[in-house]
Amino acid sequence: MKEACVLIMKSQIQRQQVRTVWWEEDEQGAAVCLVDQSCLPLQVNVLRLRHEHEVAEAIVSLKVRGAPAIGVTAALGMALAAQRLWREQGERMPLHEVYAALGKTQRLLGATRPTAVNLFWALERMQDCARRASDEPQVETLRQLAQLLQQEALQIADEDAASCKRMGELGAQFIQDGDTLLTHCNAGALATSGMGSGLAPIYIAQQQGKHVHVFVDETRPVLQGARLTAWELQQAGVPLTLITDNMAGHFMRHGGIKAVFVGADRIAANGDVANKIGTYSVAVLAHAHHIPFYVVAPFSTVDLTLASGELIPIEQRNAEEVTSIRGERVVPWDVTVANPAFDVTPHEYITALITDCGVARAPFTTSLREMMSSKSE
Ligand code: MRU
Repeated sequence: MKEACVLIMKSQIQRQQVRTVWWEEDEQGAAVCLVDQSCLPLQVNVLRLRHEHEVAEAIVSLKVRGAPAIGVTAALGMALAAQRLWREQGERMPLHEVYAALGKTQRLLGATRPTAVNLFWALERMQDCARRASDEPQVETLRQLAQLLQQEALQIADEDAASCKRMGELGAQFIQDGDTLLTHCNAGALATSGMGSGLAPIYIAQQQGKHVHVFVDETRPVLQGARLTAWELQQAGVPLTLITDNMAGHFMRHGGIKAVFVGADRIAANGDVANKIGTYSVAVLAHAHHIPFYVVAPFSTVDLTLASGELIPIEQRNAEEVTSIRGERVVPWDVTVANPAFDVTPHEYITALITDCGVARAPFTTSLREMMSSKSE
């Protein structure tokens, strides 16, 4: 499964946008391809996943992570399941059995991570596509259905890339030449199919010729900031300073930080935001230092069915992520550990929600609902 593993040397680093997840076909059939984010930045391993179970495992084990990237990967996983069935069964399998098998795949992929709503949004969109196909007389074969699902998944990926650019353009207006910014976790290209959500305004500001410097929280316990954001910004030639999470307050007080940009995993109807654990602390600190706090996310991250952030399911992950670093235990045995992967930032700490449908400000219940209505017009 693993391709030649490349050790990135400093001299080899190129200034380019990283590729996160894509579709390939070869003599063995279709594959969902990923850069294994659990190995970055020391190794760049490309994984070629040929079965939906492998796709589910890759999501659970954070080989691919970040809300939009999880959604795109799951959509590609559904398309992969249909392709695989076609390769294994030809046209022998009755279509009603194919639809039942796709329902099973949707449940498998939907059980991987509970917080990022993009996962469920993308799976629902793929199921919708399959349902529509079942009513269309021109979709008579499994091969045609598989092709249709592949097109839909690739369309989701393309739309995600376009929405990243749009959010970047909208968000860049809040960045001035010479600004020092702060980000938490990784909401960049590695977390999406495009240039990212939380980092997109920074990339666009850079393209506009603005000089920025980014403070990157390391983001314990899995170090998405230290391993992924630091690497990604370095690749893109954005100057950065890596700090541990508990340094954020110090640098807000003394480091001249002008704004915070983060992504989101789910946004409730009242504007409360679930994002990587630690985001809430950063938001409170930003509020205390009168620093604007921007959340950047595609509208597919907004969940208007949940009235407030209290209702967002928070993923609890393995204690080992906290007790060990790179497989080595660093704490005493038998300690009680808590490891919620996300926290909820109440809307009162959020300056604006920058989405691909526009910039929402308080009161978010109204602005998000209005955005939803104009989107569906
Ligand atoms: O556990 P992860 O790495 O999937 O968490 C990712 C985050 O919290 C990101 O900030 C969020 O998904 C937005 S990514 C564009």
